[in-house]
Amino acid sequence: MPLPHWEQQPTDLPAATREIKSALRAQIAASGRSVEEVFAVLEKRIQADVDDIKAAKDRGETIWPVIDYADIEAGTVPPDQLAKLHRRGCLVVRGHFPREQALAWDDSIVDYVESNQFFDNYRGPGDDFFGSVGSKPEIYPIYWSPAQMQARQSVRMSCVQKFLNGQWKHESEGTQWFDPERDSLYPDRIRRRPPGANSGGLGTHLDPGTLDLWMTQAYQQAFRHLFDGSVEQYDPWDAAYRTTGPQYPGSTMCSVFRTFQGWTALSDMAHDQGVLHTVPIPAAMAYLLLRPLLTDVPDDDMCGVTVNQVFPASLKWHPLLLEALSGIPDVHAGDSVWWHCDMIHSVAPVEDQQGWGNVMYIPAAPWCPRNERYAAQVRDAFTTGSSPSDFPEEHYERSWPNRFSTDELSEIGRRGLGIL
Ligand SMILES: [Fe+2]
Repeated sequence: MPLPHWEQQPTDLPAATREIKSALRAQIAASGRSVEEVFAVLEKRIQADVDDIKAAKDRGETIWPVIDYADIEAGTVPPDQLAKLHRRGCLVVRGHFPREQALAWDDSIVDYVESNQFFDNYRGPGDDFFGSVGSKPEIYPIYWSPAQMQARQSVRMSCVQKFLNGQWKHESEGTQWFDPERDSLYPDRIRRRPPGANSGGLGTHLDPGTLDLWMTQAYQQAFRHLFDGSVEQYDPWDAAYRTTGPQYPGSTMCSVFRTFQGWTALSDMAHDQGVLHTVPIPAAMAYLLLRPLLTDVPDDDMCGVTVNQVFPASLKWHPLLLEALSGIPDVHAGDSVWWHCDMIHSVAPVEDQQGWGNVMYIPAAPWCPRNERYAAQVRDAFTTGSSPSDFPEEHYERSWPNRFSTDELSEIGRRGLGIL
């Protein structure tokens, strides 16, 4: 029997939650194993990863894989580094851009916002998630600076995105799910956190969706091996059915399919200065999606996941996963940082931050039906200098004369925006 599904956010969330949970339990049980048995298999697999990460930490090893840009460009990434990337699902690209280039971009962003009186006109945080960081603009809702666009459409960015997309299975079941060679230039914001900053950080969460991960048909197909009891076959690197479906609206939604989320460092950042952490286990998504089906979770509860809020990973429901939380190593201006789109991540708190903490958020979002659909909105936002539709409607740049212009687009830029 097919699973019930809701292509739009259900109006009665508790009822829909009860309905989908009982249908999923029944479908898993029909495989011949109980939900508890299937979950035990998964827990063993995750436990092995957690133990491996903890042992590596005890040996003083860097948990995050680090790969030199030069090796990616030359196609000479050593097999052991590739294997580590696949196992951990996250990556630091060393020397992605020359340091001077990154520092010049950082300066040019300051010029860009100051020349347009951004700080005088800043109206406060426009969303309720990053808004918790503070009232000073650390997250700049700026999308169309020359620096950002130059980075997005650069050959070096394209090269790393192709490499990362290539870690995924993009063809299966007779379908090409995405084009690993072409990125859709997903516009995102800038963070500039000044020396001396105090920040509470951001709690452990994930970004690809909320209740839609259980409730839409496309996600039910994408996670079919989790929902039909064949958990051994679940492959977090298989893009099947992930690149077409809808997403429930929300304040932190991402309309596109990203193979990896990422940012490019525009300043040096030491590992203990409020930096990004992940649970570097790509298959942890399986744990997150099946955990609510165990009997200790109330029938109308998905371990705290609901619409319009980020998907939390919590000590209450996911203590095993959080044992593996691992921060990035020291990064330098021009390095970039990447993590599999399903991965739990957080930003550590910091007091009296030493040095700047400046990044441009640029993910890998390969061309696919879902991203092509969003690209129409992006083209419109680019042309008018508006905030892209995934973000709060702040539109600071509409009247800024020195934003990046259409005639500065390279071929990579035009292909990314779908202007051919
Ligand atoms: Fe996030």
